[in-house]
Amino acid sequence: MKQYVAPFGDGTVVLRLVEERDLETILVWRNRDEARVWFKNSDRIAFEAHLAWYERYCQKEDDFFFLVEANGHPVGQCAIYDIGSGSAEVGRFLVAPEMAGQGYIGRSCAEIVRFGTGFLNLSYLFLEVMEQNAKAIRLYERHGFIEESRFGGLIRMGLDRGSII
Ligand SMILES: CC(C)(COP(=O)(O)OP(=O)(O)OC[C@H]1O[C@@H](n2cnc3c(N)ncnc32)[C@H](O)[C@@H]1OP(=O)(O)O)[C@@H](O)C(=O)NCCC(=O)NCCS
Repeated sequence: MKQYVAPFGDGTVVLRLVEERDLETILVWRNRDEARVWFKNSDRIAFEAHLAWYERYCQKEDDFFFLVEANGHPVGQCAIYDIGSGSAEVGRFLVAPEMAGQGYIGRSCAEIVRFGTGFLNLSYLFLEVMEQNAKAIRLYERHGFIEESRFGGLIRMGLDRGSII
């Protein structure tokens, strides 16, 4: 079973584990044409498939999927997964459409880096992003991720704990 993680944040955003009651909201965000094209599986996802995915996720111990809230309202999502000895991948960054460009996902990125390197004590984090996704790439660069390689339209970016200022 998954370890419970108490909500955490920076005073503006709060990251708390996604719950079943959030699934409809986040699926609407995820299925928008403007959003889904930036995910490796770009298909529209049906609710039943989303729920089945969530049920599998709940059994995983190496995957934490967070809803981001600001002023008590959902503003986005992000995750850290494939948590292994010393490293993990971060991703599933997505903003609620009406909340875009307000800095919430940047703050979430900083928080998930802090969670990964601090609470989970990982020394290295990485992510994959489509090379056309300039907005996301800028955001990740601002939070210390550096391009390591690119292949098949995807850029892999990494962050070493030692390089966090
Ligand atoms: C990528 C994504 C999550 C970024 O979300 P966002 O809400 O734009 O993120 P932020 O607001 O934190 O930062 C983005 C911009 O807001 C600006 N910003 C930050 N704080 C701000 C503030 N307080 N007020 C106004 N603007 C602000 C940033 O400078 C940044 O500008 P830039 O894009 O010109 O560099 C969003 O575009 C999205 O959901 N995209 C679809 C899914 C996706 O691509 N996910 C990533 C897959 S790898």
